[in-house]
Amino acid sequence: MCGIVGYTGKRPAAPILIDGLGRLEYRGYDSSGIAVSDGKKVNVIKAKGRLFELEKRISGASPEGFCGIGHTRWATHGKPSDENSHPHYSRDKSFAVVHNGIIENYLDLREFLTERGFTFRSETDTEIVAMLLEYYYNGNMLETIIKMRNKIKGSYALGILHENENGVFYAMRKDSPLVIGLGENENFIASDIPAVLPYTRRFIIPDEQEVAVISPDGVTVYNRNREQVNKQITVSDLSADAAEKDGFAHFMLKEIYEQPGAIKKTVHDRITPDGIKLDRIKLDGKKIRKIFIAACGSAYHAGAVGKYFIEKYARIETEIDLASEFRYRDPIVGDDCLTVIISQSGETADSLAALREAKRLKSRVLAIVNVVDSIIAREADDVLYTRAGPEIAVATTKGYTTQLAALYLLGLKLARDRETIPQSEYDGITSAVEKLPELLSAFIDEVNPAAQYLAGKYYPANDAYFIGRGADWSAALEGALKLKEISYIHAEAYAAGELKHGTISLIEKNSLVIGIAADPALREKTLSNIKEVRSRGAAVIGVTDSPDAIKAECDELMVLPATHPALTPVFTAAALQLFAYYVAAARGGDIDKPRNLAKSVTVE
Ligand code: F6R
Repeated sequence: MCGIVGYTGKRPAAPILIDGLGRLEYRGYDSSGIAVSDGKKVNVIKAKGRLFELEKRISGASPEGFCGIGHTRWATHGKPSDENSHPHYSRDKSFAVVHNGIIENYLDLREFLTERGFTFRSETDTEIVAMLLEYYYNGNMLETIIKMRNKIKGSYALGILHENENGVFYAMRKDSPLVIGLGENENFIASDIPAVLPYTRRFIIPDEQEVAVISPDGVTVYNRNREQVNKQITVSDLSADAAEKDGFAHFMLKEIYEQPGAIKKTVHDRITPDGIKLDRIKLDGKKIRKIFIAACGSAYHAGAVGKYFIEKYARIETEIDLASEFRYRDPIVGDDCLTVIISQSGETADSLAALREAKRLKSRVLAIVNVVDSIIAREADDVLYTRAGPEIAVATTKGYTTQLAALYLLGLKLARDRETIPQSEYDGITSAVEKLPELLSAFIDEVNPAAQYLAGKYYPANDAYFIGRGADWSAALEGALKLKEISYIHAEAYAAGELKHGTISLIEKNSLVIGIAADPALREKTLSNIKEVRSRGAAVIGVTDSPDAIKAECDELMVLPATHPALTPVFTAAALQLFAYYVAAARGGDIDKPRNLAKSVTVE
């Protein structure tokens, strides 16, 4: 949801900003822009459309200077256009600002500034920041920024450039991500670490509302009380090519193939002979009366699988909520509850709000998060990292399956604490979890041609229905989301038994139904629902580990490997990710950057 980058040093700023924006484009891609200071004035160049439109615009006329800021946008306030793109100038063009987040009181501030003679060039909330800076400017940048900060409400990661500040720019964040990269005689800001990994591995992360002054020789950070603070430097162990496609046609395909390795990292040292060790998390399953899981999109679908697993093995009542609902529905949560917030990015606005609501209600909060030191990770009482590495494709793949792996670990740990799982069952599942990476790796290779073949046959479909029961239904939800978000085929997931209560009226000759029948306890029941749609003319792709049991009722099959039944959603996910990928490829979709979407959703 918008990416920002900044640079100051001895090298021309523009190429470094464009390079960083290329690695941040997944966060938003409807327009982009840069502002570069040449020591006398600030030059802004921006363009509607993908980054290459900006590159075209600056080719041969790259703004000169060694200090600048850049932005790639996912529109919230104001349509994608040149005018609404960032950076935004102040009225007299002395300031330029890039922003990720939302200024909630921007209409009031627009009125405040209009009354004082300011006029606006864009429809954005961000332009308010540039104008306020000009309004408060008194020659002292720190004072000016603090006055502006005291006036705005909402979330922000900001990069600020002023014409009088030769080689220096400013940054500040609240509820939006921002890292400061430390180089040799050069320094950076970015919305995330991979954006500037080719230049540095040393980072500091500013706390909420701290102001950072960034020059080539150093970075000074001031807290809310304007005191200088010493920040801890972290060294990233991500590989420099973490944000490269590595020979794959798309990041999504690369990330599908990275799943076995990512799951291995998530589980390998957490299953020990003495039980499941969830890092330094101190949780006692015996003391938890009820679990709430709150998340959005695919993370919610992972939570739905987790609910079945936890209830089955740990016997703790587990409620699953969309984070956007949880935050407003006045849930009955107390200090005997555990709230689990699941988020790949760790910055999803609704999930963060659900976390804060759970804490307000005195629940302990455990976050299952991928991005290290992200806001959700920092605000939770405990964090279980999924260790998937950077996920660049907008449609999540390894982010989702590592969330499943983390939830299996959590469920097993709680089940052991509560002594609700027989030792043999515990041993069977832990050993299957340990074998997941190897089995998944072989499965992805094996199912890839089948997914390509099926995509070649069914890509012209207008609609698709994914059905299943229990955790297969949760897997169906994720399969449908994957297909619709990248191929733009209308896809719905239904609890298989529910279809006949209305939706079956949509089934006609050649309607595409993906019937997931992996759970042996529910296979017969799902099979009867598959028969119902088939008898009405549907074309059925069956997804199962027992082909003989269902093949007579299916037109095609995707065969899952034999594993513990609780783990089949991981394999179903991989099969359906590949199916969605090849369908989208056949339809000519922009797979890594589907329309209207962005990677992390930092607005409500
Ligand atoms: C779908 C997808 C989204 C995210 C959702 C939550 O492929 O990626 O549905 O799962 O926006 O994002 P995080 O996990 O970052 O909170």
